[in-house]
Amino acid sequence: MKNKNKTVWSNRFGKTNSKNFQRIGASINIDKRLYNEDIQASIVHVQMLIKKSIIPKKDGIKIIKGLKKIKKEIDKNKFKFKEKFEDIHQNIEKRLFQIIGDSAGHLHTARSRNDQVVTDFKMWVKKASFDINETINFLIRSLLKKASRNIDTVMPGFTHLQVAQPVTLAMHLSAYDQMMERDKSRVLDCKNRLNESPLGACALSGTGFNIDREMTASKLGFNNPMVSTMDAVSARDFATEFLFICAQCGLHLSRLAEEIILWVTPQFGFARLSDAWSTGSSIMPQKKNPDAAELIRAKTGRLNGNLIQLLTVMKALPLAYNKDMQEDKQAVFESFDTISLCLKAMTGMVETMEFHAPIMKKAAESGYATATEIADWLVRNLDMPFRDAHHVTGAIVKMAVTKNCKLDDLSLSDMQDIEPRITDDIFNVLDVEKAVASRK
Ligand code: ARG
Repeated sequence: MKNKNKTVWSNRFGKTNSKNFQRIGASINIDKRLYNEDIQASIVHVQMLIKKSIIPKKDGIKIIKGLKKIKKEIDKNKFKFKEKFEDIHQNIEKRLFQIIGDSAGHLHTARSRNDQVVTDFKMWVKKASFDINETINFLIRSLLKKASRNIDTVMPGFTHLQVAQPVTLAMHLSAYDQMMERDKSRVLDCKNRLNESPLGACALSGTGFNIDREMTASKLGFNNPMVSTMDAVSARDFATEFLFICAQCGLHLSRLAEEIILWVTPQFGFARLSDAWSTGSSIMPQKKNPDAAELIRAKTGRLNGNLIQLLTVMKALPLAYNKDMQEDKQAVFESFDTISLCLKAMTGMVETMEFHAPIMKKAAESGYATATEIADWLVRNLDMPFRDAHHVTGAIVKMAVTKNCKLDDLSLSDMQDIEPRITDDIFNVLDVEKAVASRK
């Protein structure tokens, strides 16, 4: 390498790039996160080039040694990333020239940065999907543990945030467990599409060299090479899909976060957050704030924004690679970091949160939550059409509201004033615990 600062295309160009062009073109500060994948994919690429006798074996071996050395340097924080070399791929290649000399020039045979970057990126997203799957599992475990301890804890179930019918805390938490299960299934499903290797597509049309794409695909943990080379270098739907999964999971977390925020208010009083998961106020000594839940609720802004960002970048890009696509990684890295942290924070809050069963039960009793039970009783015992039963029950509730009492504080004769055929038996369904227990 004659001039260590020159670009790989400098012979084609008369002038060096302007400073701000260099700045807008560089992605090294973001894509250095791909160094592991980049080095792994380069090693496998070289192994294939050696096996197919496309490059001299002795140069190939030097390249592999040099790449392993670079990996150690980056691992140990001893690697100097340079903006002038634009991205992780060229930073590593430049360093390889410094370490092993001109043999490094064989590395990029039958490869382009276009298939290189998307191979690295796909490998990274695949690993990130495994990680998210694991992190969701921890939350699921803590939700189910809390649920299993609260099978008999009665609370109001809400619609329109108005008390609707009595439920149990276990039912409530299980709903979130199911949301998390679906988020997990989306991660697993997206992994199927992450299992195809773009490597070997080169710039866009493949290569005249006799490469072995099956070999590189399987050595890098993919099932098979992608069919279309032009699709391989220009598809980013694996990334937008990943961003959607993060956004959807974040949305689920934000709903639970919102409930926690409500539950820990003195007005609800359903739950108390551990001190480890609350902050105080700098002025109001009585306060305990659910900051983590509020931030989980707020982080959906970032997660949704990242999804829209990449969808917008990709919209209407002609085939095949366009530099626009360099803007694909920041969103994915950030969404991964964000959702991972939100999942962990939610797990911590759920694990340590305490619930006040008597307050929740009282809330269920005071909100006429068993009104539907009365209507069902009328249907079952008096053969009333449900619509009529609904009217009768409405009148009973109105009476309780007027008398400012609970439904089971009404006397039998109060109820008989409205529907004479009602018997004592109706009081059996007014109890919130019995009402919940009757649920299939
Ligand atoms: N840093 C680039 C990216 O992330 C690598 C691919 C560059 N390819 C090119 N033809 N300029 O997209």
